[in-house]
Amino acid sequence: MSKTENKKILVANQNMGLDESLYPAVLNAIAHPLLIISETGQIKYVNSATENFFEMGAPILLRQNIANLVLFGSPLLALIKQVNQKQIAVNEYEIQFEIPRLHVTKIVDIQARLLESHSDVEGRHMSIMFIERGMANMIESQILSRNATKSISNMAEILAHEIKNPLSGIRGAAQLLGATANSDDKSLTTLICDETDRICNLIDQMEQFSDGRLPEYESINIHLLIDHVKKLASNGFGKHVKFVEHYDPSLPQISGNKDQLIQVLLNLIKNACEALEDVPNARIKITTAYKAGLKLKVPNRDKLLSLPFELSIEDNGDGIDSAFVPHIYDAFVTNKKGGKGLGLALVAKIIADHSAVIDYVGDKSGAKFRILFPLLNTSIKAEG
Ligand SMILES: Nc1ncnc2c1ncn2[C@@H]1O[C@H](COP(=O)(O)OP(=O)(O)OP(=O)(O)O)[C@@H](O)[C@H]1O
Ligand SMILES: [Mg+2]
Repeated sequence: MSKTENKKILVANQNMGLDESLYPAVLNAIAHPLLIISETGQIKYVNSATENFFEMGAPILLRQNIANLVLFGSPLLALIKQVNQKQIAVNEYEIQFEIPRLHVTKIVDIQARLLESHSDVEGRHMSIMFIERGMANMIESQILSRNATKSISNMAEILAHEIKNPLSGIRGAAQLLGATANSDDKSLTTLICDETDRICNLIDQMEQFSDGRLPEYESINIHLLIDHVKKLASNGFGKHVKFVEHYDPSLPQISGNKDQLIQVLLNLIKNACEALEDVPNARIKITTAYKAGLKLKVPNRDKLLSLPFELSIEDNGDGIDSAFVPHIYDAFVTNKKGGKGLGLALVAKIIADHSAVIDYVGDKSGAKFRILFPLLNTSIKAEG
């Protein structure tokens, strides 16, 4: 066997038999941003996830030096320097990575390593991969909130059965007593009736969690639902708030249950309005966008599901304390006087039933909830 034939076999073995023409598709299939830079930091290659990450197309990115995309003094530049100097692979975890052009800070893990040198390519090159913690945390929080809502489902069924029935007996008896009581005692029987009504309402709300029936799904234009909830808010609990919309009008419809999705929007927008009660220039920004490329493992599905439809609701309040964030989807977690702490727990259940995901991506300058939906024909029914 000749030397060239030997080399060909070696290359084929190294490639595991994969045709070279498939390499770009393989790199684009990686859900995490991956880019290759030269020794001077010039960007030489980006996969599709990188375009989404920096919200910039490949032709523009390929004309940039990595230093132009980040802040002066960014930990990424120090990491690149370290890899170049020590010629080792470096991984850094949970880095606050600012993208100044987008005014956003993302929490990422970064993996950087030098590529093997190649006779056809001049100079040394480095691969940099970003792993967004938001995404990892999102999957974790989906699983946690799914478990939390399941336990509420069981509890709500028990409560409805064991409390609501005797409660209606107590209310009936109090009403009878009230009919013949003097005015002092009447105020007490009224109190009993009011309190039993309040407990019944609370149980009704909790029963929404245990409703295992499959809701009707239909094709939904989410913008119409947002406008409906905005109107409700502007005429009631959100009079003090200015709404700003950034809609992508070309967005396709999604598959969902209209009433449930209205409930989701209502709970999120109501929370935002409540957080803005004493805030001057109170503002809620609602954004819809199409972001191809993001695939996640979602409840009810074995395979990764593409979730390209993004809806975000952002306010300019104080945001949620980072220590509190992991618990916000749990039932009865509230810091409001008179709050029940059920709003976000219900949101998490409905979102999971729609095979969608929700994530909190706010900071001190305001709360921001981001929901990612699958498209119309990929959405599925609730687990029951
Ligand atoms: N936009 C927001 N800004 C600041 N904090 C928020 C925001 N949304 C939610 N929170 C926090 O999350 C907690 C849980 O919200 P959730 O809607 O589940 O309950 P709640 O609003 O307290 O009560 P309710 O059951 O009446 O909705 C809130 O008490 C609040 O502390
Ligand atoms: Mg609420």
